[in-house]
Amino acid sequence: MKIVVLKGSPHKNGSSNMLAGEFIKGAKDAGHHITELDIAHMDIKPCIGCEYCGMDGDCALNDDMPKVRGALLSADMAVFVTPVYYFGMSAQLKAVIDRFYSYTIKLSAKHLKTVLISAAWNSDDQTMDYLEYHYKGICDYMHFENCGIISGTGCGTPAMTSGTMHMKEAYKLGRSV
Ligand SMILES: Cc1cc2nc3c(=O)[nH]c(=O)nc-3n(C[C@H](O)[C@H](O)[C@H](O)COP(=O)(O)O)c2cc1C
Repeated sequence: MKIVVLKGSPHKNGSSNMLAGEFIKGAKDAGHHITELDIAHMDIKPCIGCEYCGMDGDCALNDDMPKVRGALLSADMAVFVTPVYYFGMSAQLKAVIDRFYSYTIKLSAKHLKTVLISAAWNSDDQTMDYLEYHYKGICDYMHFENCGIISGTGCGTPAMTSGTMHMKEAYKLGRSV
């Protein structure tokens, strides 16, 4: 499979990217082809809702989004990687998802396989509920096939993350997709 990993954390070596790294190791060991896009450090502007694209056309904004669009439209799987910010995904990742708008029809017709990988400081049961619910709503709407969620609770810093079972869990998921 061609797997595109969308990394939505401003911390290049942070916790969510550590978990993504383990997923990638597993997926490579399983023979998959990985493309990593550090979307948090790309020029991706937020959707301005201008309707120029009509949900199926060119976008009026001029930035790096065509690289993401091209990668996703030729992928079999997308992996969404994000820190938890106020119970949701990072603004950087949300900006990319909002920009799906200009190719909603093409992207949803692909029935893309997807995975969510997130990292949060807290480890209580509710920490990930809102993000998981949001992600599942996006999957339903976009006809994505959710293939797994790594909810990295207690992953507030790289030192915390390296000691959690989520590292192994992420590798295993990558190995099994
Ligand atoms: C703006 C902001 C909001 C945050 N909101 C939450 C939160 O709602 N729940 C939580 O457990 N951690 C929260 N955190 C902590 C981060 O999710 C946590 O430090 C995570 O490890 C960062 O991942 P990263 O290193 O991949 O960027 C927040 C951090 C920031 C900077």
